[in-house]
Amino acid sequence: MSSKKKNDGNSGSSRSQIVRSFKVMDVMRGANELQEKLNREHAERKASPETTDDDGPEKVLHLEVGQPESGAPQAVASAAVEALTMPRAKENVMGYTDAFGLTDLRHKIRQHYIDKYRSGDKEGSNNDALQVPDVSQIVVTTGSSGAFLLAFTACFDPKDTVAIASSGYPCYRNILQALGCSIATVGINDEYKITATELEKEIQSRKQTSSPSIKGLILSSPSNPTGSMLTPQELKELCELCNREDIVFMSDEIYHGISYGNVKEATALQYAAGNTKSNSNRNIVVINSFSKYYSMPGWRLGWMVVPERFVQSINKLQQNMFINAPTVSQTAALKCWDSNTIEELETHVSKYRANRAAILNRFDTKDRSDDTQNVLKGLMLETNVAPADGGFYVYVDLGEDFVCMEPSGDNNETVLDSVKLCELLLEREHVAVTPGIDFEDPECPQNLGRRRFRISYAGGTQIITKAMDKFVGFWNNVWVPSIAAAKKRGSKRKLE
Ligand SMILES: Cc1ncc(COP(=O)(O)O)c(C=O)c1O
Repeated sequence: MSSKKKNDGNSGSSRSQIVRSFKVMDVMRGANELQEKLNREHAERKASPETTDDDGPEKVLHLEVGQPESGAPQAVASAAVEALTMPRAKENVMGYTDAFGLTDLRHKIRQHYIDKYRSGDKEGSNNDALQVPDVSQIVVTTGSSGAFLLAFTACFDPKDTVAIASSGYPCYRNILQALGCSIATVGINDEYKITATELEKEIQSRKQTSSPSIKGLILSSPSNPTGSMLTPQELKELCELCNREDIVFMSDEIYHGISYGNVKEATALQYAAGNTKSNSNRNIVVINSFSKYYSMPGWRLGWMVVPERFVQSINKLQQNMFINAPTVSQTAALKCWDSNTIEELETHVSKYRANRAAILNRFDTKDRSDDTQNVLKGLMLETNVAPADGGFYVYVDLGEDFVCMEPSGDNNETVLDSVKLCELLLEREHVAVTPGIDFEDPECPQNLGRRRFRISYAGGTQIITKAMDKFVGFWNNVWVPSIAAAKKRGSKRKLE
């Protein structure tokens, strides 16, 4: 729909109408509705005098949403209870905080950078370059989502062009569009990443065609949905290129802490001063959150580290848009870096590692010699699955072999694509996963969104294992035969 379309009075502003829904939330709503139906059916069965079954209602298995099942760390939850139940002292009324958040929390965040990316790691020479942020540059935000709104509004004007990855977190595109920014979609490489090479190509092609230059870049590493991670060298080169071209680079580091040893985690703050005349950070904005590693998604708490030149604008915007991030969440988050909390959080990472293995083991491999009954036949780990180096997602590309369009009379077509696969998996097996249309460039000519889907393994290992059993059964007995039959009938193989 054109952004110029006149507002008809019933449907919100014209710019809100170009914003697409966040599909994973739609999938989650569908899964929740299915759960309600299963609950009702169970209640009806239970009410009947003949029923002896009382195993409870069947549960929908949620592998769609990227939400830790674990809840907040114990010390954090206890601190929240204590803060809310303690006798009211003057300083404990859970009133507003400073716009940038509690000073103690901002100090802890600063210390986190020193501990994790500098003194805590003696291996790399890059550590010397870490720009230890001043507390005045640290902003506590309402989740990283609140940080996006603040950072985009502070750093970009309407019509400014901001680069995003062709496979990426959908809300970047959606929020930027809501703010009137233009999007430059940069195609990811074969390793599912944007590196300096891909960005440089886009910059040069814009120069050649006199297209508007790129003002900003936002991406996440580890990536949602692909799980790919930039190596420290790739991150360094990207920061240097952005500094050279005066591009504001927003490095979304929300999945830091959740990686599996294939690629070393580095923060863009380690390379913030590269290529700058003043040897200080001019262009690098780092965004992070308590929603993933810290297991506190509903607490709506995040942070960002911003170059000094944006501090005043962000302060004014925060005062006006949010006032401050939730005070009770900030108070409890002071416990996030206690040693017992970190110990608890590391057990979650071990669980994610086991979950990841439980999923990856079910893909076919070129040299698999064991029982192939238990694997997704023909869906190859080497070619159909993105790297899964960090975060808690496995991103699958069905390729052209496992999708097709089936003409079924008139002009109607039965589409066997990843959207249909997700629909059927939920309907028949009660397993929820998210189709790639949430994450892929909607303009992409190969329609990759309809070839790909994302499995989230932020849940419990038993649930993941059970869901994969169901998925393998569905794949081998329903999906693969349906595709084969459709092809035999002469259906087109490619999506259009
Ligand atoms: C890459 C990425 N960034 C940001 C967010 C938003 O997180 P929150 O607003 O809870 O911090 C998500 C949520 O899934 C995400 O995957």
